[in-house]
Amino acid sequence: MQGKDAVVIGAVSEKGGSGKSTFLANLAVAHALAGRRVTILDTDTQETASDWAALRQSWNVAQIPCYARTGREVYPLIRELAEECDLLLVDVGGRAEDREKKVMIEVAMTLYAADHIFIPVNHSGAGLWTLKKMEQLIAYSKQKNARLKAFVLPALVSPQLVEKDVATIGAFLEEYGLTGVFEPLENAFSFRRPYVHAHDQGLSVLETTDRDGRKAREEMEELFYEIQEKM
Ligand SMILES: Nc1ncnc2c1ncn2[C@@H]1O[C@H](COP(=O)(O)OP(=O)(O)OP(=O)(O)O)[C@@H](O)[C@H]1O
Ligand SMILES: [Mg+2]
Repeated sequence: MQGKDAVVIGAVSEKGGSGKSTFLANLAVAHALAGRRVTILDTDTQETASDWAALRQSWNVAQIPCYARTGREVYPLIRELAEECDLLLVDVGGRAEDREKKVMIEVAMTLYAADHIFIPVNHSGAGLWTLKKMEQLIAYSKQKNARLKAFVLPALVSPQLVEKDVATIGAFLEEYGLTGVFEPLENAFSFRRPYVHAHDQGLSVLETTDRDGRKAREEMEELFYEIQEKM
């Protein structure tokens, strides 16, 4: 973090549909409930984050300004928006199949500008393998952006198997010599329907009160504490 600029956090993954947008929305609300001025920058043409922020406007909840921008303008806009808030969350889309060979420009811009990125992965071979594939990109980005920390978020894992999957992720990082590049989180954003129900309405699970959402709320709170400690 430089001067009074916001902490910039990105959700990045080479793998589509890994839970980036849903996690980022919950993280945004957790920080807003803690009294921080939170802004979202949506760099995905699918505009998942923008749609979520728009849906929020019909609720009596903390409103989170959301800007949408793609391409090379992402980097200067991150720097500009970071002057006006405490926390800037950048949502980055998954990789389109036809762009397999190239690093998406929005990913590159976010890696150059962020303080922290969260990479949601599950325990599956394909999920873990994205980390190996991202190794060079993250190492290179750290040379350009010395503040950058890359956290591995166990995501969409079975709630009953979180400990096991956290151990699997840790073992994978050790085995492939990736512990200096990625920092694993111990709490998960696991596969739970209440996250989806809340997100589909423009809310975070932290803003719901029903019994069904209790475990998801507790999980999100634990995850938020861990993230705050590491920030
Ligand atoms: N914690 C969760 N538990 C269960 N389902 C989830 C959870 N988080 C997200 N989902 C569902 O998984 C799908 C992908 O989630 P999301 O859009 O957050 O992923 P993404 O990584 O942002 O995707 P993209 O790469 O397309 O941007 C959605 O259908 C969403 O509702
Ligand atoms: Mg998304």
